[in-house]
Amino acid sequence: MDNFDFHVTTDIRFGKDRLAELPEVLNQFGKNILLVYGGGSIKKIGLYDRVIDQLKANDNHVFELAGVEPNPRVETVRRGAEICRKEQVDVVLAVGGGSTIDCGKVVAAATKFEGDAWDLVLQRRNYQGDALPLVTILTLAATGSEMNSGAVITNFTTHQKLGTGSKVMLPKVSFLDPQNTFSVNTYQTAAGSADIMSHLIENYFKRTEGTDVQDSISEGLMRSVIKNCPIALKQPEDYDARANLMWASTLALNGLTGNGKAGAWSCHPMEHELSAFYDITHGVGLAILTPRWMEYVLNDDTVDKFASFAWNVWNVEEKVPMLAARIGIQKLYDYFKACGIPMTLPEVGITDEKFDEMAKQAVAHSKIKTDAFVPLDEAAVKEIYTDCL
Ligand code: NZQ
Ligand code: ZN
Repeated sequence: MDNFDFHVTTDIRFGKDRLAELPEVLNQFGKNILLVYGGGSIKKIGLYDRVIDQLKANDNHVFELAGVEPNPRVETVRRGAEICRKEQVDVVLAVGGGSTIDCGKVVAAATKFEGDAWDLVLQRRNYQGDALPLVTILTLAATGSEMNSGAVITNFTTHQKLGTGSKVMLPKVSFLDPQNTFSVNTYQTAAGSADIMSHLIENYFKRTEGTDVQDSISEGLMRSVIKNCPIALKQPEDYDARANLMWASTLALNGLTGNGKAGAWSCHPMEHELSAFYDITHGVGLAILTPRWMEYVLNDDTVDKFASFAWNVWNVEEKVPMLAARIGIQKLYDYFKACGIPMTLPEVGITDEKFDEMAKQAVAHSKIKTDAFVPLDEAAVKEIYTDCL
């Protein structure tokens, strides 16, 4: 196991009906609030009104950044930072899924940044500046953004979807009420669960030896998602299913399963290009790519990890490692399909037209070619895209 720091200071307020705690939380930072939200789902479920009631009773001055897009855009970040500077906002309150929270993070930092918001994103993980404090209310179990310091922002003019982040973007407080996810439709529930699975898989398939703790936690979280996503799909208001998905999303990407393990991710860099060029749902892109990536990198050198995945996550009984590995991959594919996820690229409107360009960008924007579980060059990435047709 490699050396690591684990200092994730987000104050998690998990559970039912805890919004009465919001004023006390916000008052630590000031009275001027930027309320950030997406395309309206929080209004439909009554959460917007409940938040506004708390803010009114607390004499907050509320400014709004509404309409954050899934795959949030840099133009929206710029708009938010302008409001924060003009209105002297003290704290950003992001209410929504990963896109809204990511947008809130970069707005919080861009407000304190002298240059253009895209130049901040281009600093990737090296941003050294300050940020406004961020509080979040999560409404979709998927990204883990509620308890990590990363954000992903898209520039559709240049077809770039890039991860950025810094310690100062870590949410100060996150409210995790599973009831706020009852209204998430089957497509987004399945996509969110695929994203959680992918975060666990990306961290699981690494080369560092002796990481039993991280790997056992990952296996347990994967089993929890595999069990609870189908329940949430059938009974959207099953509290425990939603609660387990929500807590799994948070723990899958807060450092718990990835720290102490070196190496770069594989499917996320490939997926980010699909979203950058075609604006598809992140979790769906990952579900399509992951089993194909697994088939591509399975060989005599990698088989042990895949066999562990099959035995410990899917309870595969086959004892021969290579056969077990193949069954495990098939089970993952079948599981995504059974959750209703379209499992080919043409089903989400993607053809081979831009594979060369996307493969080039996937390699240029990440360390997939040098540090991945199995290093992949442009030709390899293109082959994996082709296997998804
Ligand atoms: O915009 P609204 O109206 O809120 O609707 C959203 C959106 O259409 C809807 N939704 C959210 N909560 C809902 C709801 N609908 C009904 N009821 C609710 N309670 O769901 C749709 C998708 O929302 P979005 O926030 O885009 O989804 P998600 O949480 O999956 O976030 C995806 C974004 O996060 C990035 C992805 O690349 C993508 O841009 N990621 C962020 C990461 C991070 N910060 O650590 C890591 C991830 O790997 C990922 O890359
Ligand atoms: Zn993801």
